[in-house]
Amino acid sequence: VLPVAVISKKRDGLELSEAEIRFMIDGLVDGSVPDYQISAWAMAVLLNGMSEVETACLTDAMLESGGRLARASDRPRVDKHSTGGLGDKVSLVLAPLLACCEVDVPMLSGRGLGITGGTLDKLEAYSGYRCDLTPLEIDRQLQRLGCVITGTTPDIAPADKKLYLLRDVTGTVPSIPLITASIMSKKLAATLDALVLDVKFGSGAFMQDLESARRLAGSLQATGERMGVDTRVILSDMNQPLGRMVGNACEANEAVQILQGQGPSDVRQLTLALGAELLVAIGRYQQTSLAVTALAEMIDNGAALRRYQLMIEMQGGEYKDQLPLAASSVLTSSSEGWLAGLDGQLLGQAVIELGGGRRKLGDRIDATVGLEMLVRIGDRIEHQQPLVKIFSASNATSRKAAYELLESAFSYSSEPVPPLPLIVSEGITAS
Ligand code: URA
Repeated sequence: VLPVAVISKKRDGLELSEAEIRFMIDGLVDGSVPDYQISAWAMAVLLNGMSEVETACLTDAMLESGGRLARASDRPRVDKHSTGGLGDKVSLVLAPLLACCEVDVPMLSGRGLGITGGTLDKLEAYSGYRCDLTPLEIDRQLQRLGCVITGTTPDIAPADKKLYLLRDVTGTVPSIPLITASIMSKKLAATLDALVLDVKFGSGAFMQDLESARRLAGSLQATGERMGVDTRVILSDMNQPLGRMVGNACEANEAVQILQGQGPSDVRQLTLALGAELLVAIGRYQQTSLAVTALAEMIDNGAALRRYQLMIEMQGGEYKDQLPLAASSVLTSSSEGWLAGLDGQLLGQAVIELGGGRRKLGDRIDATVGLEMLVRIGDRIEHQQPLVKIFSASNATSRKAAYELLESAFSYSSEPVPPLPLIVSEGITAS
């Protein structure tokens, strides 16, 4: 096989064989196919797409480029993946919550990049929390506690690490087959029985419209099923942040409120819906409503909060019910009407301006800064009404820039606006 032949075949819109896909991925990992040819091939994939079979072959080749987590316990293994959004702290609640239901949750998570936050950054708001557990430490913690949230180990899908770096600088990130293989190769390396995907759509999401989110959801699900894992999907709205809090310590604090049976109802609703899909998928319950009740009970009796605290401490973190936040100020409305839109890109950029997100890989972030959203789409807004509480430690220039971004993120209507449904489709399984 010659790399140029594989590139040309995809450029001409033809289907690649498993051998050709493996050849490119093996060549990427061992360096025998140079970066420029991999990049040209990735662009051909972005432009011409891949079939379901090709996408599954690519996922498998990327998965096989590394190792898998060992499986020492007999408990079912499940995981959740979200395509990312503002204020999405569901993983922090869901991993310990599921562990209380006698399942193992080996969550290998990522850092924030661009406007969306990362689960690892949120957990690192607890001083000392370790996100670099070794496979042996992951295994031990799963046996003792049933849940772990850590970074991917160097041995997991090394092909994805290399390919993502190239995609990031060659305009080839937004390709459904490449995104699918990237996400699924890392998730499936945890040897799961069931996986639930929270595919988000809207102004604060990777996929801005419902149609592209549906296409990504279909591709992720078909790939999971082809690879033998019961894979379920929920499509959820990201036209406004999930919950009230955005920012690392802000979100960790809100996750604790949810675990205490308090906090915003949308975070609890989505967490229970995602968890219930998994408990039904492994056959623990026949009906989603029964699974929701069982999960809610583990929050309401305090078990999930205790498990969360143990997880933080077992991973070296110093648990606090509420982490300290930066000093706050309030942005008030200069207009009136019904809140019709919140531009998630602008909200996310404001958090970056405050120092709560990264402009480039490796930037240091300030866990104490963030936002508390005081209004939701559909609310009637009066002149001078408080809109957002801003937790800010930054200098005057970046605070001013954040205020300007926030002000322009709000749009109003003179007519009443209906509130947005959070979950537009749930419980989708491959036919
Ligand atoms: N997240 C990933 O892990 N990979 C992608 O390609 C895009 C989002």
